[in-house]
Amino acid sequence: MPSPSDFVPGHLFCFGLGYTCGRLAKLLLKQGWRVSGTTRSEEGLSVLRQDGIGAWLFGGNAGDMLDKAAFSDVTHVIASIPPGEEGDPALTKQPDWRSSAPLLRWVGYLSTPAVYGDRGGAFVHEDDDPNPGSARGARRLAAERAWVSAFEDTDVSVQVFRLSGIYGPGRSAIDQLRGGKARIIDKPGQVFNRIHVDDIGTILMASIQRPHHGRIYNVADDEACPSGDVIRYAAELLDMEPPEPIPFDSAELSPMARSFYSECKRLDTARIKSELGVELAYPTYREGLRSILDDA
Ligand SMILES: NC(=O)c1ccc[n+]([C@@H]2O[C@H](COP(=O)([O-])OP(=O)(O)OC[C@H]3O[C@@H](n4cnc5c(N)ncnc54)[C@H](OP(=O)(O)O)[C@@H]3O)[C@@H](O)[C@H]2O)c1
Repeated sequence: MPSPSDFVPGHLFCFGLGYTCGRLAKLLLKQGWRVSGTTRSEEGLSVLRQDGIGAWLFGGNAGDMLDKAAFSDVTHVIASIPPGEEGDPALTKQPDWRSSAPLLRWVGYLSTPAVYGDRGGAFVHEDDDPNPGSARGARRLAAERAWVSAFEDTDVSVQVFRLSGIYGPGRSAIDQLRGGKARIIDKPGQVFNRIHVDDIGTILMASIQRPHHGRIYNVADDEACPSGDVIRYAAELLDMEPPEPIPFDSAELSPMARSFYSECKRLDTARIKSELGVELAYPTYREGLRSILDDA
């Protein structure tokens, strides 16, 4: 498996420098990379700058124009902004940034398994036809395709990463239990995969070393399971009582959460291992949660 020290450091620009990109950024900065990216708020701007990240306001009330100088020596881009009804703002609001990035060679688009729609709990492989069952999934699929086609017939390779439920330090069942916010939504038969944020970083770095234009990767752990299993395991680690399960039909859920729980699939993850040579540090939520607790 490639390690960060195998890289010739470049300049990574992240459209949407949130949780996942923020973790990767800290790792890459230590390896001599430059990292920059966007946020919507002044507060986000100052936090990122304190961390040594070149930060730019983009989207929301911040407006949709970026200084072209931001891209002059950018070698890699990660697209992490969820698409809106009009598409991915990084492509629709200011598409000409691409001509300002002469050194760009690799793009990673962070997508979701919502593009597959409901599979009744079956395994789903990257070559299976997508069939989104929600507007959210349809928007994602359109954004995936827009990113790949935006760089067709160029030297830039665009990869699509369909990420399962992201967790890690500061964003896990442990944090939910400690904050009194953990809920077990009981929907018999419903399972999904998760992925530790640092395993996402490993997969993105492995792809940078093995670019493959248009390639899609399922990014998930090795064990799809009900959300209750994860909360109960975290409660056991914390020596706390888990919350009582709430039946799905009577649970108060956001439209996004309800659409998420309405679908059920297991992700086939052979490709990240066979093609990218990745060995997950956290193959199930058990290793992931234990490490979060140990490192706290
Ligand atoms: N969370 C999951 O379990 C999960 C699973 C699969 C896929 N995904 C997707 O994978 C990507 C990375 O996930 P994450 O959890 O690391 O993301 P995150 O922490 O929510 O960060 C998203 C970033 O996008 C920016 N953003 C959001 N809406 C925007 C808009 N309309 N215009 C401009 N910028 C906008 C945010 O800006 P601010 O800095 O201002 O907040 C933030 O920097 C996201 O696209 C997410 O939807 C997430």
